[in-house]
Amino acid sequence: MSIIEKAVDKLRSDDSSIKKKDQQQVEISNDSQCIKMGEHAAYQESQDTLPSSSVEKAELQQSEVPLQPSALNQPEGRTKAEPEVPREPDLEIMALQIQGVLTADSQRTRHAEEMRMIKRPILQNAFGKKHKPSEYSNLLMVTSAIAGEGKTFTSLNLALSIAAEMDRTVLIVDADLAKPGMSRLLKVSDKPGLTNYLRDEQKDIGKLLLRTDIPKLTVLPAGPRHAHSTELLASNHMKQLFHELATRYSDRIVLFDSPPLLVTSEACVLASLIGQIALVVESGKTPQHLVKDALAQLSSTDNVSLILNKCKKGFLSTQMGSYGYGYGYGYGSESDQQ
Ligand SMILES: Nc1ncnc2c1ncn2[C@@H]1O[C@H](COP(=O)(O)OP(=O)(O)OP(=O)(O)O)[C@@H](O)[C@H]1O
Ligand SMILES: [Mg+2]
Repeated sequence: MSIIEKAVDKLRSDDSSIKKKDQQQVEISNDSQCIKMGEHAAYQESQDTLPSSSVEKAELQQSEVPLQPSALNQPEGRTKAEPEVPREPDLEIMALQIQGVLTADSQRTRHAEEMRMIKRPILQNAFGKKHKPSEYSNLLMVTSAIAGEGKTFTSLNLALSIAAEMDRTVLIVDADLAKPGMSRLLKVSDKPGLTNYLRDEQKDIGKLLLRTDIPKLTVLPAGPRHAHSTELLASNHMKQLFHELATRYSDRIVLFDSPPLLVTSEACVLASLIGQIALVVESGKTPQHLVKDALAQLSSTDNVSLILNKCKKGFLSTQMGSYGYGYGYGYGSESDQQ
């Protein structure tokens, strides 16, 4: 072979090794692109600096896709594609903007102060030194002699006030099965509730409780109407539920928004099972003899408080709006009655 032929041969072999090198770089580059498209879209802007060695590539993957703290705390069995999301409340009470309902801003108002005065003896009865757990004194029934005296309105405000306590939780039960005002007020009339449990359609009461935007307040709606609500409330099932609700959480007040005593038979059935009763009396409207009749229906229960509702401005030195509350504790003295 001549010198010229040898030189041509060498040039050919150099050319083919350059081609091989180019091919290799394209392959690496394509490989990087796959990573980018599949998992790390953040690489897209830095394509120009993509490394050619796989070690560098691995380093880049780690630095460009930092692990989130939440990813480190994934519960067992949970994958990255299924991050843990805190459960949203089932019911946003504050967003409903119900007129006259306590809010975080109204904690210093006369209205809030009146609620504090009402709740103190109730909490004392429920958790004070003299309370007996066997008497279910953490179960509170809010009732009245006749309809429309303010049971539902008072129940909600009282529940919000108790939920503001550091170490108390509250469950509101809409126990007015014939006229479920609380469920209507909170816009949960269409949700399953107490009747579903009492009819054995839902055995786990926990599945019927609605979490609210107030961290320590839950709600059990009334559920669908039922023709035999008195019988449902008088059933053994209800007695079991009372026991379960009274004993499950030692720091919880369960507040039953109930029907009026003199108009329905359900209220008397509930009163016979419950530990504490708050009787709402509409100021200047409910005749005294009806209040006395209602109290007579409750003679088997020791813990009865009176709440004088819708007091006119000036009455009991109330300064909020045109209405307010007064309260009475026990009903032995004349001053507690109208
Ligand atoms: N203290 C108050 N200040 C202003 N409005 C009030 C007060 N108490 C009750 N109300 C209003 O009076 C009306 C009747 O109140 P609510 O529905 O609470 O009565 P109720 O006793 O639950 O009635 P029912 O027997 O029909 O269930 C509602 O419009 C409510 O907003
Ligand atoms: Mg009501």
